Amino acid sequence: MSATIINGKELAQELKLSMKEEVTELKNEGLTPHLTVIIVGDNPASKSYVRGKQKACSETGISSDVIELPTSTTENDLLHLIKELNDNPTVHGILVQLPLPDHISEKQITVAIDPTKDVDGFHPVNIGRMMTGEDTFFPCTPYGIITMLKSKDIQIEGKHAVVIGRSNIVGKPIGQLLLNENATVTYCHSKTKDIKEYTAKADILIVAIGKPNVIKEGDIKNNSIIVDVGINRLEDGSLTGDVDFDSVKEKASYLTPVPRGVGPMTITMLLKNTIKAAKGLSE
Ligand code: GUN
Repeated sequence: MSATIINGKELAQELKLSMKEEVTELKNEGLTPHLTVIIVGDNPASKSYVRGKQKACSETGISSDVIELPTSTTENDLLHLIKELNDNPTVHGILVQLPLPDHISEKQITVAIDPTKDVDGFHPVNIGRMMTGEDTFFPCTPYGIITMLKSKDIQIEGKHAVVIGRSNIVGKPIGQLLLNENATVTYCHSKTKDIKEYTAKADILIVAIGKPNVIKEGDIKNNSIIVDVGINRLEDGSLTGDVDFDSVKEKASYLTPVPRGVGPMTITMLLKNTIKAAKGLSE
């Protein structure tokens, strides 16, 4: 039987509609959620991501502004700006678009953001809260993946989840969120010997490798749930994931496509975190 496709684009639209209603209610109560995005330098990909974030905010009625700074901005300038935003009660969420120029430490900037405004979920306080199973801001891509699985009532508890990739933004936190849902989690990465030995035993396989069409039918377990986090642009300009969609689609039970899979969910979860920040994170 063919896999059920989990369409992230459709789910993102549904979630945005309900968030729009929630934002309208908050505005009626006098609270307008506000996100400030900071971008340093002229990276075209970063600029395009930031435009996408602004558009999604305006679609849901969330107010946002973008502060564009030149590459010559110093770390101190940026730290001062973050302090101002931390102290500004009308700003609920702060997002510094990564990567930053080499002379600015991403680590110093990440820890400077008030954890209660850290809508990326990158601050060590929020990572710690996630690890101890508390409610907090979860990093947007992993949060989007969990939301996709739950949207199909997929049982996570007791499943063997295998995560390929161990980045701080995707691999590590998705493994933690799956563990919080009582999965048994295995991490694989570039130094893992014989990754296929693990993928073949995965009930839930999260693929965040960053190379096109690596995972094929012979690598996965029958009826497994396959989540493709990769976004790779091929020479002909088309987008493809890390999973060979056509190869696995008859063997998997659920499958996320690329495009229209995990990608659209990431920005949507940023909106969710911004609304949460406006309402106030519970202690
Ligand atoms: N650059 C690429 N992805 C992200 C993200 O999720 N957040 C931030 N701040 N920068 C990014």
